[in-house]
Amino acid sequence: MIVVTGATGGLGSATVEHLLKRVPADQIGVSVRDTAKAQHFADRGVRVRQGSYEDPGDSFAGAEQVLLISGNDPAADLVSLHRNAIDAAAAAGVRRILYTSQHGAAPGNPYRPSDLHLATEAILGESGVAWTALRNGAYGPLDQVLGPWQRTGEIAQPEDGPVPYTDRADIAEATAALLAGDRSVDGPVTLAATAAVTFADFAKIASDLTGRPVNRVVLDDEQWVAEQIASGVPEQAARFMLTWYQATRAGYFAESGPLLAELLGREPRTVADRLAESA
Ligand SMILES: NC(=O)c1ccc[n+]([C@@H]2O[C@H](COP(=O)([O-])OP(=O)(O)OC[C@H]3O[C@@H](n4cnc5c(N)ncnc54)[C@H](OP(=O)(O)O)[C@@H]3O)[C@@H](O)[C@H]2O)c1
Repeated sequence: MIVVTGATGGLGSATVEHLLKRVPADQIGVSVRDTAKAQHFADRGVRVRQGSYEDPGDSFAGAEQVLLISGNDPAADLVSLHRNAIDAAAAAGVRRILYTSQHGAAPGNPYRPSDLHLATEAILGESGVAWTALRNGAYGPLDQVLGPWQRTGEIAQPEDGPVPYTDRADIAEATAALLAGDRSVDGPVTLAATAAVTFADFAKIASDLTGRPVNRVVLDDEQWVAEQIASGVPEQAARFMLTWYQATRAGYFAESGPLLAELLGREPRTVADRLAESA
């Protein structure tokens, strides 16, 4: 039995879909906060049990592997919640925990979630259970990262650095391959697209794709924060996002690795592939 948490969220649900192509449904379980949202999985023979990181209940019972999707509530004490879930999985006799960590998680990374992922990896290391931390590449929607370049012809963002922007669908497919046993990897591993690109690269790709000039405009950090606030983004959220740009230009996301391509058996989707879809 493979139990997937967060299976009513983006990455978890896509991973279950891929698992269903590889593993009999009666060997798949989901641990979800709201079972009604997972009825479509129950209808296909997946075991659906109620569980949260606060109280996993019996949702991990009988599982050989648990995919622990990192929480998404910035106001919560996520490290404690992850610890709770890891303890419950260990108590249930789980053989391996896979955890969705973050590419570039390293001491000193100014992007704040890095610390919570490192702390969770440390808890996994002390859990006594075999574990894999999937250090997933940045997979947010490209429009969110680039801003309204299609309308303005500009990528106007703070100074950035190279990042292997990754398609969440590719990460889901590769995670399912790992859970299905195609390969077993221990400890932290990077799951990210092969090539790291900058916003200047994006501008060139977008210009080539559209046949229109798309310019990279580097905004001063404080000017960018002021513009975000003026457009309705809370200052705290803008300053949080700024730490992302600071981390990219300090090179924390520059390195990728071969594992995603190996698990997929093909090249991961590139930013050019994804921009071509939305151009
Ligand atoms: N690598 C990246 O670029 C990147 C980007 C965004 C997020 N992330 C991280 O990766 C995770 C998965 O990404 P995603 O795109 O699938 O996010 P998502 O669509 O927001 O899904 C998060 C899932 O976590 C579940 N969850 C949150 N808190 C929980 C708790 N206390 N107990 C049980 N379940 C809980 C949610 O349950 P409900 O369905 O009940 O709400 C949801 O199913 C995120 O939560 C975040 O930590 C990574």
